[in-house]
Amino acid sequence: MTTNENSYQNCIDTSERVAWTIEQVLGGGRFDLARKFLPDTLARVQGISCLSEKEKLRLNQIRGLTYVHLFGFVEEFIIKEVLALAANHPIARSVERRALLRFAEEESKHQLLFESAKQALLAQLGECGLVPGASDVAGFVLSKSELCVLLLTSMLEWMTQHHYIDMFSAGGERESLDPTFLQMFKSHWIEEAQHAKLDHLEIQRSAQASSPEAREAAIDELLEIGGAFDGLLKAQAELDLASLERAIGRTLSDQEQEEILSVQHKAYRYTFLGTALKHPKFVGQVVELTRNGAGKIEQAAAVMSA
Ligand SMILES: [Fe+2]
Ligand SMILES: [Fe+2]
Repeated sequence: MTTNENSYQNCIDTSERVAWTIEQVLGGGRFDLARKFLPDTLARVQGISCLSEKEKLRLNQIRGLTYVHLFGFVEEFIIKEVLALAANHPIARSVERRALLRFAEEESKHQLLFESAKQALLAQLGECGLVPGASDVAGFVLSKSELCVLLLTSMLEWMTQHHYIDMFSAGGERESLDPTFLQMFKSHWIEEAQHAKLDHLEIQRSAQASSPEAREAAIDELLEIGGAFDGLLKAQAELDLASLERAIGRTLSDQEQEEILSVQHKAYRYTFLGTALKHPKFVGQVVELTRNGAGKIEQAAAVMSA
């Protein structure tokens, strides 16, 4: 085997060793409504002055539901992207092809895991609005260059690591979180770890075939997708206001809605864009591949982390 084949084979071997089933992770599919679903670093409900502690807990749980929903969203484009990458590897690179097919299969399993969790959460939390359009978002992302889509995928996969290791699992937070929720994102990261390695290998391959101008353009495309996704996050934060009103059984005044929306839009941005754009592994790849990319990413990360 070549060194490159070995790297792909190692991902297959680890993936086979750590694989899990949806049933093992979700069990009976009940979530503990007395506990938080998301760490405060991501949910950021503590700073909202117009809500009681009980109401903040319910908003945290609604954010848990939308976190699961939005992960299912992004996995849609990743599945289609990785299937296309696998199909493009010729028969002589069958190890690479198999590693990528396994990657796509795992993402497909993750999507089903998140869908099952979402249905269980909706049954417990009651009616909650969720932004539609996963297929449209996937179509928009996949209209960009291969290098852009690979970099975006890598960024999101490192983000899942950061959220789980540094936030869900961090001291003080872990014990206060719902154990099924925690298990779901631990299991997710365990498989994403191989995806992040495969992304890196595929980025190297794709970058070698890209001109310096195309590499710079890939960063602009990625930031354009980030801007569009930010609009979707704001729409979700708006839907959450009505979900919260239904859940807590009271109407929020205009002033209260304004406060919650302002805090929560920033929290969504930080969760899905700020923490992703700042991940050192992602930034390292951008530095390696482009001349101007890192500066642009740093600027966007500052806006998305406010
Ligand atoms: Fe995944
Ligand atoms: Fe993944």
